[in-house]
Amino acid sequence: MAQVLLDEIERVRGGLQLIASENFTSPAVLAALGSTLTDKYAEGYPGRRYFSGCEVVDRAENLAVDRALRLFGADHVNVQPHSGSSANLAAYAALLRPGDAILAMALPHGGHLTHGSKVNFSGRWFEVLSYGVRRDTELIDYDEVRDLALRHRPKLIVCGATAYPRLIDFGAFRGIADEVGAWLLADVAHTAGLMAGGAVPSAVPYADVVTFTTHKSLRGPRGGAILCTAELAGKIDRAVFPFVQGGPLMHVIAAKAVAFGEALRPAFRDYARRVVENARVLTRALDARGMRPVSGGTDTHLALIDLRDLGLSGVVAEQRCALAGITLNRNAVPYDREPPTVTSGVKVGTPCVTTQGMGPVEMEEVGALVARAVTEPGAASEIREQVTVLSSRFPAYPTNRDIGQ
Ligand SMILES: Cc1ncc(COP(=O)(O)O)c(C=O)c1O
Repeated sequence: MAQVLLDEIERVRGGLQLIASENFTSPAVLAALGSTLTDKYAEGYPGRRYFSGCEVVDRAENLAVDRALRLFGADHVNVQPHSGSSANLAAYAALLRPGDAILAMALPHGGHLTHGSKVNFSGRWFEVLSYGVRRDTELIDYDEVRDLALRHRPKLIVCGATAYPRLIDFGAFRGIADEVGAWLLADVAHTAGLMAGGAVPSAVPYADVVTFTTHKSLRGPRGGAILCTAELAGKIDRAVFPFVQGGPLMHVIAAKAVAFGEALRPAFRDYARRVVENARVLTRALDARGMRPVSGGTDTHLALIDLRDLGLSGVVAEQRCALAGITLNRNAVPYDREPPTVTSGVKVGTPCVTTQGMGPVEMEEVGALVARAVTEPGAASEIREQVTVLSSRFPAYPTNRDIGQ
């Protein structure tokens, strides 16, 4: 197992990580994750646990709560969800009964599995209505959202996505939800770090409930959290525990507190801004080489690239990039005719490379390397060498030696 851990660091440091939902946590986050807090049972909430001996871990959860509230400015937060999917399950449990109607973004247009996919609990237990993006602009069709809401009167409207490069108009969703008397859930799993750093507008002033993951752009441990209005605080807490989960992962909650603390520092605002700037530069570099960005560009940390003009599938591009030491993933583009295992696109994101310290100059180079890897499979080993040179200049998980101490 020791060798597995070392090999994973070597894999990451030897290549380019462009998976939009990944990041590199700090030594402090990793230390909290690897701490003895993993051993403590703490069912319940600080000050009202069902186990004794929780007075120390209570301090970890209180810190996580205080920092999350300062970071996002919400009335209430629950930091116990084990993941983004668990956070959504709990949010649905708080607001809905099985069979209720929800209106959410379709998976093939950028929504998440938990937004009503048939293979997920959300599609099995609720009546799902889906909206998508317009064929011409590839932007969310707010007229369609409103029409569907007025016609079907869902109990819950979900906004937020897994593969949507543009800003989401939370105000427009709030207006539609109010018009039909629906709850509004914003799932900002992907953009929570950008929101925390002020690089994209916050969903908190608009949504009744905001779910997010702590491990993507927010750069914390793998996990989830739920922000909500004071009115829903009790319902959300009871939905997380005891309805959906048992004992909280106190080591992960401690690591969330560390990550929230890091995100409160001014340097994180700069990080969030650079993530978006890097995504814009990378997207333009790819576009200039025939790799068309869906919707024409990005406002966030990710771009969705349509490969149909190149006559390539997403899975082939993913494999060719892997051979060149570039990790990215295939992704459906709107109105894709290929199955999800094949797809006609790839998704690229900049949270990892930005954490490594790369900037616009390097993004131009990364764009050129990705485009070449995708279109010139014979050049894979040559590209891999260039990737190794670039990534060794900006090592992931830098050691003291890397930073010259
Ligand atoms: C929008 C959205 N919601 C929820 C999730 C689920 O998060 P997790 O993988 O932690 O369950 C994701 C993960 O990709 C996501 O993109």
